[in-house]
Parts: sequence; structure tokens; C-alpha cells
Amino acid sequence: MNLMKAIQVNLPGGEFELVTREIPEPTEGQIRVKVLACGVCHGDAMVKNGGNYPGLEYPRIPGHEIIGVIEKLGPGVREFKIGQRVGVGWPAGITYDGGFAEYTITSAQELVLIPEELNEAEAAPLLCAGVTTFEALKNSGAKPGDVIAIQGIGGLGHLAIQYAKKMGFKTVSISRGADKKELAEQLGSQVYIDTESTDVIKELQKLGGAKAILATAPNSEAISELINGLSLDGKLMIIAGVEEPIQIFAGQLIAGRRSVQGWRPTIGSDAGAARKDTMDFSLLTDVHPMIETFPLEQIDLAYEKMLNSKIRFRAVLIPGNSIS
Ligand SMILES: NC(=O)c1ccc[n+]([C@@H]2O[C@H](COP(=O)([O-])OP(=O)(O)OC[C@H]3O[C@@H](n4cnc5c(N)ncnc54)[C@H](OP(=O)(O)O)[C@@H]3O)[C@@H](O)[C@H]2O)c1
Ligand SMILES: [Zn+2]
Repeated sequence: MNLMKAIQVNLPGGEFELVTREIPEPTEGQIRVKVLACGVCHGDAMVKNGGNYPGLEYPRIPGHEIIGVIEKLGPGVREFKIGQRVGVGWPAGITYDGGFAEYTITSAQELVLIPEELNEAEAAPLLCAGVTTFEALKNSGAKPGDVIAIQGIGGLGHLAIQYAKKMGFKTVSISRGADKKELAEQLGSQVYIDTESTDVIKELQKLGGAKAILATAPNSEAISELINGLSLDGKLMIIAGVEEPIQIFAGQLIAGRRSVQGWRPTIGSDAGAARKDTMDFSLLTDVHPMIETFPLEQIDLAYEKMLNSKIRFRAVLIPGNSIS
């Protein structure tokens, strides 16, 4: 029996457990990928904490920012070849086993080829953090020169800042405290708003209000207050998966003809194309995630640092860097 190492969650609210499992075999239309790198997204908390997501069953191996090499093709797969470097995103790691493992199985339509120029650990976060924010900005309704604000500078936020700058928006970042100011500016923020020392709404309104705000900080109170920072016809795009209700009064929307939209990246049969667009734009405009790498065995450390906003800015697991 051929075995692999994996990190799995056995039940909702359970710990990450390092286990040895049989290497899965691809069936009709499936592909086996040897995992080279897998980002740790705050979205993996869905699997760790549990929730009412169709298809989420336990035990589950999380991880949906996967870069790997095709190792085996199931019957009927013709579009890909063994040895190609590919990427996989959500809903891997949620509705089927994902990339916190040495191998994973996925379907051909989920895959995108990874350009040679991209380093695998740096490419991994593009598969969720990248594609989610890139597509949100493209669909924000804002035009070059408009003000875009990015709330929360973590895995998603630090890529959103770079994309927004490269797309020609006046780019504002919103965070807690002064310690991320310099990095936010290096990433492309023209304006940095520290919610601990300034009034975020006043600061946004000094700029005429934001045409769109991407809310990536998972805190419903912090998101709720942002609505007044929008311009006329401005849009609040909710990306963070908050559990408490977001509170918005009708008057806040009506007077400024503002709207609120939930956002997730393209999934299903168009997912590969959406991921390719994100890779291409990242290469074209020289957008790179800032990452810290960890072996599989250090998942607890990587996850804890993410929850405490101590990662600059995305943790990436490298199964090949095993420490045992
Ligand atoms: N919609 C989708 O398709 C999609 C896809 C991926 C992820 N997500 C969700 O998007 C969110 C961000 O994911 P991520 O991977 O970027 O997470 P992350 O790396 O943990 O970053 C989140 C950032 O939010 C801020 N933050 C955290 N807790 C906060 C609080 N209590 N109050 C105010 N700000 C807080 C922190 O930034 P500052 O220190 O700058 O404040 C933190 O760095 C998560 O909720 C995740 O589940 C959604
Ligand atoms: Zn994610």
C-alpha cells in the first residue's frame, strides 16, 4: 500500500491532525496531483470550525490554494499530461479532500496550468486569495482613477492592494494600527487609514468616498461601519465570511444609491479560465504574494499566526519540506 502524509480535521471544531493515508487513485475524469505548495486561507476555518456547507463532510483534508505536478491521469483525461505543473482552488479542501497533503485528486475542469515564470509557493495564494480579489475588482463597477478601498490586510487584502494599484485605481487600505502602514504603501496603497487612530469614514469622505470597498476583514462590526465611506453609487463588496449579521440601515443605501454585494470567485466549468486570467494578470503586472512557508507538520503554527494577523501575508505549506 502506498501511503502519504496529510493534515485532516476529523469533525467540526476538531484539531488539525497529522495522519498517514493511502494515496488516492484517480477515477474517470480525475487527476492525481503531487502537492508542491498549498496556501493556508482564512477560508479553511470553514472546515476547521464546521458549518452548513453542502458537501462538507468529515474527515476532511483542507487546503484550496494548491500548486502541484500531475502524477497520474484517470481514464478519459486527455487535456493534461503527466509532469505538468497545475493549480487547483476552492472548493477543493471543502467539498472534497484538498492540498494539506502530499497528494490530492481533482477533476480536469478545476485545473489551470502554471506558467514557468511563477514560483510554486508564490503561485499558490493566487488560486483563492488572488482570483477572489482580482475578480472582485474587475466587477466592482469602478473605473481607472476611481477610489477603491481595501479593508483588512491579510492574505486577500495584500493582493487586492497590488491588483487595485496595477488596475489604475486610487488605492486606499484600511487596517488596525500603524504597523502595516509601510508595507501597505510598498504594496501600492496611496492612502493608509488606521482605524485605531482615525475616523475611517471621515478619511474616506475626504477623498470623495470610495467607489467600491472590498471588505476582507472577518468582523461584522468593522464591515457594517464602512457603508458610510462609499461615494454616490458606491458598492460594498463583502468577501470576508462573517457569522454575525452585518447591520445596514435603508437610509444609508438610499441617499447615496449605494449597494452591497457578496463576492466569491468563479467556480465550476469556468474556474480554470478565471484562474488563468488571474495568473496572466499577475505575471503581466508583476504582482507577487508575500509568503511565509511551513512544512505540513507546522500547520498549527501557520494557522495560529494567520488568526492573529501575524503572517506577512500568506502562510504556504510545503509538503516536500517535511520535518519528520
Ligand atoms: N468570498 C470568498 O470567496 C472568500 C475567499 C477567500 C477568503 N474568504 C474570507 O475572506 C476573509 C479574509 O481571508 P484571508 O485569508 O485574507 O484572512 P487573513 O489572512 O486572516 O486576513 C484577514 C485580515 O482581516 C483583518 N482582521 C482580522 N480580524 C479582524 C477583526 N476582528 N477586526 C478587524 N479586522 C480584522 C486583519 O487585517 P488588519 O490587521 O489589516 O486589520 C487580517 O489580516 C476570511 O473571512 C475568509 O474566510 C472569502
Ligand atoms: Zn480561500
